[in-house]
Amino acid sequence: MIKVAVCGALGKMGKEVVNAVEAADDMELVAKIDIAADDMYRTIEEAQRVEDIDILIDFTQPKSIYQNAQFCLNNNIKMIIGTTGLTDEQVENLRKLSNEKNTGCLIAPNFSTGAVLMMMFAKQAAKYFDNAEIIELHHNQKKDAPSGTSIKTAQMMAEVKPDFALNNSDEVETIEGARGGNSYSNIQIHSVRMPGYIASQEVIFGSSGQILTVRHDTMDRKCYMQGVLLAARHIYKNNDFVYGLENIM
Ligand SMILES: NC(=O)c1ccc[n+]([C@@H]2O[C@H](COP(=O)([O-])OP(=O)(O)OC[C@H]3O[C@@H](n4cnc5c(N)ncnc54)[C@H](O)[C@@H]3O)[C@@H](O)[C@H]2O)c1
Repeated sequence: MIKVAVCGALGKMGKEVVNAVEAADDMELVAKIDIAADDMYRTIEEAQRVEDIDILIDFTQPKSIYQNAQFCLNNNIKMIIGTTGLTDEQVENLRKLSNEKNTGCLIAPNFSTGAVLMMMFAKQAAKYFDNAEIIELHHNQKKDAPSGTSIKTAQMMAEVKPDFALNNSDEVETIEGARGGNSYSNIQIHSVRMPGYIASQEVIFGSSGQILTVRHDTMDRKCYMQGVLLAARHIYKNNDFVYGLENIM
């Protein structure tokens, strides 16, 4: 049995992960951790003192995740990171720490298999188009913008096309931010925050005479659980550092 702890267990994602782990035949939920809890562990340190943990799955918040990950890897607890907001530098530091400690770690900005396919399709399409922009749409409680998924999508597209066309040089932005934020390879990212959405993203490609739109919509947070369990099973058997679910799909 894979002994799993869930950090952020009271959150929207954490609750789904708790249910998914409890329903999995090959996993045992050994600890629920949430800083806002009265009836469960409040910190990873507290849980680790009492429980034997193989893997910790973290869905907390951008300002906590780096510290949580450093603690786990330094204490040989394998990690699945769903929390977004890590900087490139922090991801690189965690890669080094994971290798140094020989402790597996998988970070995925998006655990939904459909969304990962959307990113893979966008990467595939990138080399055939000159222009590309990304619109990501999320619920209005989301703490970071743009989304981790949109950043990861732009990175994957930039791997195959490092030079998407720049905006028209005469363009005037009369309302600041109207054209979105310039990310990797000149891909503009636009973030919409609105009650009602969970997570959606569309990647729009254009070239002379044609438009291609690749879109994914999340209807229910359960869509992430297949990917989370896939990741936990992979990391249980391996001590590698993986960034992106597409690398194990
Ligand atoms: N990778 C993915 O597929 C994916 C999908 C959805 C959301 N997310 C990300 O997951 C994170 C959580 O999202 P959510 O919608 O569940 O948020 P949420 O606010 O509903 O839940 C976060 C929970 O974490 C707890 N928490 C915060 N800091 C903590 C700490 N240091 N230790 C323990 N518990 C702590 C909070 O009390 C809260 O219960 C966000 O960063 C979000 O962007 C990732």
